[in-house]
Amino acid sequence: MSFEDNYESRVIVALDFKDRKEAISMAKLFTPELCKIKVGLELFVSCGPSIIEELNSLGYKIFLDLKFHDITNTVIQSCVTASSLGVWMLNIHSSSGKNTMVNSKINLVNNNYATLLLGVTILTSLDENDIDEIGYKNDIRSQVLKMATLCKESGLDGVVCSAEEAKSIKLKFPKNFICVCPGIRKKDEESNDQKRIITPAMAAKNGADYIVVGRPIIKSKNPLESLISIKKEFDNGLKKNEK
Ligand code: C5P
Repeated sequence: MSFEDNYESRVIVALDFKDRKEAISMAKLFTPELCKIKVGLELFVSCGPSIIEELNSLGYKIFLDLKFHDITNTVIQSCVTASSLGVWMLNIHSSSGKNTMVNSKINLVNNNYATLLLGVTILTSLDENDIDEIGYKNDIRSQVLKMATLCKESGLDGVVCSAEEAKSIKLKFPKNFICVCPGIRKKDEESNDQKRIITPAMAAKNGADYIVVGRPIIKSKNPLESLISIKKEFDNGLKKNEK
């Protein structure tokens, strides 16, 4: 099926706000046809699970980005509880280990949740110096590929990675192993705390399935216009891949 036939927005807007009203007003500027919504730690910690219900009632598919990283039982129970809120996608840190990832996915399936479960690899705010300082022996590319392999072997649906690394992940694994890519900036745009950034066009070229974009949209003078422009660049890249 072609990109056009199978159309759904591949842009996930990160609603990184503390304030419920601000988050909801921003969500109301967009539509579920234009984007999906990411609820991360800041919004979830300040508003709690009811924010998911509110965004669901606006028709959005929600990626709950809490990057669970804990002992096996705690992560499993958190995944099942998060799925009961009606989220479309959620994630675990892959350094939680294989046993935790395998059993989290099994528990979701056994409880009849179709929630997509992703593994976080190396955060896009880290560069080679940072991961060397933490103590990883590999460079970023090999470490991300190693973690992605672990996620795939654990039965997860995909990974969160930089679109720089999506290319090698897509070469190694089947097409339906999802790459969700943050660290997206248009050419010459402020990178903020992100260290591994890439444009929407390059992200598409490298095989990103979804891009996660926060500040370039939510801090923009015209968030709707920024979303439309980023989406257009990404969609054009996805269409080119089909040729
Ligand atoms: O504002 P910006 O576009 O940099 O936001 C990126 C979003 O993606 C943030 O909400 C951040 O928490 C999230 N994220 C990330 N890197 C990851 C996983 C999630 O930047 N590896």
